[in-house]
Amino acid sequence: MDLEGTDGRERGEVVILGPFWVSYPEMARLADATPVILPTLISDDFLLNPKVLASKLNEKSRLLILCSPSNPTGSVYPKKLLEEIADIVAKHPRLLVLFDEIYEHIIYPPAKHISFASLPGMWERTLTVNGFSKVGIGDQCNIGQLLEHPFVFHKNIVLILFWMLHFYLN
Ligand SMILES: Cc1ncc(COP(=O)(O)O)c(C=O)c1O
Repeated sequence: MDLEGTDGRERGEVVILGPFWVSYPEMARLADATPVILPTLISDDFLLNPKVLASKLNEKSRLLILCSPSNPTGSVYPKKLLEEIADIVAKHPRLLVLFDEIYEHIIYPPAKHISFASLPGMWERTLTVNGFSKVGIGDQCNIGQLLEHPFVFHKNIVLILFWMLHFYLN
């Protein structure tokens, strides 16, 4: 993933919504990017306000991390709000969305899980993260899945091989 800034020196920005899962900012730093925290409000059910997102995106924004159902807030993104976010993402061609849906099965009606990649035009723009550790198989089953567009996959193949080696050795 290209996380370099426009002049080759500035770092790309990874937009993370607060409250966040503790690892996201460190992951951004590991990728040599700058984490940008957008706080969400309890009055918005800790969901992203699209107007705030639109006002914070700039030419350095490379990745928006969304987690639904969310750790730690439990918020679930409704389809209408995801569509509004997708409209904003569509206006920023260099921005990808990392949609962490690892808690997909820990959800209670009437909330319904929607994958960001399932929205029109968003499959190519989404890195879908899932795994086996939250579906009753057990905490020791730390095998993740990363589903992404073949073009992005090609660029990240070395990183994925490194992860696989890391899991194998640990
Ligand atoms: C939001 C979120 N994403 C990803 C993970 C990683 O899950 P795993 O236990 O499979 O490494 C966790 C783990 O707590 C999590 O909370």
